[in-house]
Amino acid sequence: MNKKPWSGRFQEATNKAVELFTVSVSYDKRLYSYDIQGSMAHCRMLAKVGLMSQEESQQILSGLQEIKTEIETGEFVFRPELEDIHMNIEARLLEKIGPVGGKLHTARSRNDQVLLDLRLYLRDEIQQLIKAVISLQEALIAQGRRHLGVIIPGYTHLQRAQPVLFSHHLLAYFEMFQRDKERLRECLRRVNVCPLGAGALSGSTLPIDRTMVAKELKFPAITKNSLDTVSDRDFCLEFLSSASILSMHFSRMSEELILWSTSEFSFIDLPDAFCTGSSLMPQKKNPDVPELVRGKTGRIYGHLMGLLTVMKSLPLTYNRDLQEDKEAVFDVVDTLRLICSVLTPLWIKVTIKPESMAKAAGDEMMLATDLADYLVRKGVPFRDSHHIIGQAVNYCLKQQKKFSELSLEQWQKFSVDFSKDMMTLFSAKASVEAKKSLGGTATIRVQEVLEEAERSLEQESDA
Ligand code: ARG
Repeated sequence: MNKKPWSGRFQEATNKAVELFTVSVSYDKRLYSYDIQGSMAHCRMLAKVGLMSQEESQQILSGLQEIKTEIETGEFVFRPELEDIHMNIEARLLEKIGPVGGKLHTARSRNDQVLLDLRLYLRDEIQQLIKAVISLQEALIAQGRRHLGVIIPGYTHLQRAQPVLFSHHLLAYFEMFQRDKERLRECLRRVNVCPLGAGALSGSTLPIDRTMVAKELKFPAITKNSLDTVSDRDFCLEFLSSASILSMHFSRMSEELILWSTSEFSFIDLPDAFCTGSSLMPQKKNPDVPELVRGKTGRIYGHLMGLLTVMKSLPLTYNRDLQEDKEAVFDVVDTLRLICSVLTPLWIKVTIKPESMAKAAGDEMMLATDLADYLVRKGVPFRDSHHIIGQAVNYCLKQQKKFSELSLEQWQKFSVDFSKDMMTLFSAKASVEAKKSLGGTATIRVQEVLEEAERSLEQESDA
């Protein structure tokens, strides 16, 4: 058994069950490259301030480089009895270069080290995630562009409400993802702060240069309070909460994909390659992909709740409970990556069915508000016009007639303010095109927003 770096004050070996209970290397090994990158910056700083010689630092740096290669080629043996990735790497360094390796942990604790690793990791992952969201937005915008002019019913309470452009509907998701990226970038600002140098909890007696380490690792800022540094997991919580909102958007979108692909709606056809069959019913083609996206949202919220609960009663500063942060963050990163890897190609390949959409959008009852607005333009107070059209709706439902099937004379029985020009109102297209208010569904408005969206995505992918 490898001796633990902290074994000096102990007389008994660690209980086996305790080793299994406390181990984290099984999952925190994914931080290895950040751990090595951080150790290298720390080592250079130690040499610079005179806490080790240049030769010693060279030895350590090449030892770390070799360890990185060993890990990447699968040669490295991870030892659970060494608890975590930090002690595994340090023990291997000592094996390789001897006692001089013991200088690396000068003025450092695993408490600030693990935070450095996690912050470096999350910094990369958040940037990747933003890119994945941009790709999904590009797929949505491409569909919006291709089907500009296609009309669907807009819903409230899942009841047909007013006709809208299909592209307008897609752009609603675009907006949600714009906010998600904003939240992630805001979170990134607080992830991107260098914790190294806080030590176990109170700083260091040694003449370390925290600014140098931060610069080398491209952190624009360093943490200001050592106690807060080692006990803070707000940056993880902020990531989990931004991720939860993002996955809620993925889930709502998935719900619509599921609904739209039913025979009842029949607005879209999901690509065969993204569906599964039934082992019993030969005719089935099931929307398992959006269903799983919807389902996985639960585990993402769960991790947010889990970590909030871990944090709620922790006294300052570091407590081992905090080790529970990593699996939550890792699982959310993995889950979101998986979701993006299926949702984007699904949106690229989905078949839109404009005829069925148009058929549903042709339901004239959805024009009732336009008729009420017509009377408003003739000077009728809205509350009165609402009532008048309500009576016309009631009449049509009873007589099983469409609005367009009533003659002008019949309309005039409901209100003398109706005249011939009202007959142009009876189409979904007229209704959509009349919604020219900013943010409305008229083609010219949607076109402007589409162009703006395309421009902003272009800028983002260039950046
Ligand atoms: N594996 C630990 C974690 O993830 C690293 C820090 C351990 N520190 C300690 N004093 N036991 O939090």
